Amino acid sequence: MIPGQKTRLRAIEREDIPTFVRWLNDPEVRHYLKIYLPMSKAEEEEWFETQMEDDSGRVFGIETEESVLIGNVGLSDLDWKNRSAFLGIVIAEKEYWGRGYGSDAIVALLRFAFGEMNLHRIHLSVFDFNQRAIRCYEKCGFRHEGRAREALFRDGRYHDALQLAVLRREFFDNEVTAGEALD
Ligand SMILES: CC(C)(COP(=O)(O)OP(=O)(O)OC[C@H]1O[C@@H](n2cnc3c(N)ncnc32)[C@H](O)[C@@H]1OP(=O)(O)O)[C@@H](O)C(=O)NCCC(=O)NCCS
Repeated sequence: MIPGQKTRLRAIEREDIPTFVRWLNDPEVRHYLKIYLPMSKAEEEEWFETQMEDDSGRVFGIETEESVLIGNVGLSDLDWKNRSAFLGIVIAEKEYWGRGYGSDAIVALLRFAFGEMNLHRIHLSVFDFNQRAIRCYEKCGFRHEGRAREALFRDGRYHDALQLAVLRREFFDNEVTAGEALD
């Protein structure tokens, strides 16, 4: 268990798979993610099995204090030499959007990534129309690094993908401020 202030991160379980399938088949959730095809239980089961053996990343379930599973957050593309990883997150129970759960889970994961896994840099990509996510990442200490122009075709037109990253020293410098923002 990785503790946050209003969330905790736990290992994902095989029993969570039907919940993940429901989440990833919600068009409103999928709108913000790279995936665009309907997701089957078989595909999700296959993904789950690869996760169990994958040394290049790890996904955690995000739970509220009341033990409600509301989303997943994880690291992928772990690069042990350069000590970097890619962060992905989804809060898929939509009534929890915009209430501080995402930033709390990210801060918990960053504290773990920098303080336990001894990583140096965490990076991510976000679509330019996802203002809630961008604000959330900025609050957690991520800085803008670049823009992949017209990298995503969605809803009949192209959108840019923004690249953000946070370094270990920036995170620990920013953590007090982020903590205050979350209170
Ligand atoms: C992105 C996501 C993880 C953020 O988690 P969250 O719990 O909703 O975010 P938080 O409440 O911690 O922070 C959101 C911030 O954006 C603000 N915000 C909310 N809606 C906004 C909007 N439409 N435009 C701008 N800012 C917005 C909130 O007010 C809050 O900022 P504040 O604390 O300064 O007031 C979550 O919304 C989510 O999973 N969305 C669907 C999937 C997704 O987008 N995943 C990320 C793909 S890169």
